[in-house]
Amino acid sequence: MTRTRRWISVTVVTVAAIVIWAAEPGASAHDGHKRKNAPASAKKLKNPSTANDETVSIGRKLFTQHCAVCHGEDGKSQTDVAKAMKIKPTDLTGKEMHGITDGEIYWVITNGIKPNRMPAFKLKASNEERWQLTVYVKHLMGEHSHTGAKH
Ligand code: HEC
Repeated sequence: MTRTRRWISVTVVTVAAIVIWAAEPGASAHDGHKRKNAPASAKKLKNPSTANDETVSIGRKLFTQHCAVCHGEDGKSQTDVAKAMKIKPTDLTGKEMHGITDGEIYWVITNGIKPNRMPAFKLKASNEERWQLTVYVKHLMGEHSHTGAKH
């Protein structure tokens, strides 16, 4: 009995050690600051807002209000605030954004990229507004939001 118990506890400790060891590199690695800030789980989130004239224009207003100070009205991030930042705000119209999904944009807006000084908008904008902002970011990228609807 005790032998079995000891065996179990040794196994548990070993498994825990392996889990911690395996998780460590992922947790501490920081692959630069390019478009990889959102976790893999964010990729699949579906945008409930469809891109149309109305959502784009609402998104534009919210973008002016919350984001333009750093990213510029045009999303190119050529602002005085951007110039003063150590890690530059991403050019939202540029190559770095290629392949980013609605879910990843939404995640970044919601949670921010704190170590790099991109603020979180979880408390400053509603869920719906954050999806409308996502629609607008896609618009700046020259893409349509992928809402699951065919276009
Ligand atoms: C205080 C300045 C600041 C504000 C305000 C700001 N951002 Fe950012 N943003 C940044 C910085 C800095 C980065 C680059 C971070 C990095 O490279 O890790 C960034 C990166 C991004 C990215 C790229 C995501 C990625 O994974 O690299 C997106 C999309 C984005 N911002 C959207 C927005 C939107 C939308 C708003 C408004 C709701 C906003 N940002 C407001 C500073 C800002």
